[in-house]
Amino acid sequence: MPIRPCLLFCLAMLASAASQAMPNGEDLYQQNCAVCHGDKAQGKVGPKLAGDSSKWSKKLFERAVLKGIDDGGKPLKSPMPHWNKSSLKEDNGQPPTTEEIDAIQQYIRKLH
Ligand code: HEC
Repeated sequence: MPIRPCLLFCLAMLASAASQAMPNGEDLYQQNCAVCHGDKAQGKVGPKLAGDSSKWSKKLFERAVLKGIDDGGKPLKSPMPHWNKSSLKEDNGQPPTTEEIDAIQQYIRKLH
């Protein structure tokens, strides 16, 4: 009974399932946000995110990204996109999921 090929196959399946469940926050940020917020989230056209909104609760950060409302309930001005009406480059026209936004926040939390 050839156990090893099955084991390898199963591990490969698990690995690919895990990578789908965990979006790559670094890639998503660099592809979609860095142009305005800077490659280290230090601020550019848009404000600094590192050490600021990177520390907001997930809910507040998701609301800011999806609906363009800041932590004080105020609308964020253009050119900050309302991502619920837009799409990350990787998502083929679909708005970002909360998992993707959380992954972006996790990534910028590590930047200074
Ligand atoms: C076209 C430029 C642009 C892009 C692309 C962009 N932003 Fe912004 N963003 C802005 C601007 C400008 C503001 C500030 C708006 C204001 O102060 O009213 C902002 C504000 C924010 C805020 C609120 C910050 C605060 O302290 O109030 C967050 C959070 C944010 N952006 C996250 C993101 C994320 C995550 C992405 C990528 C998915 C992204 N932005 C892509 C321009 C952009």
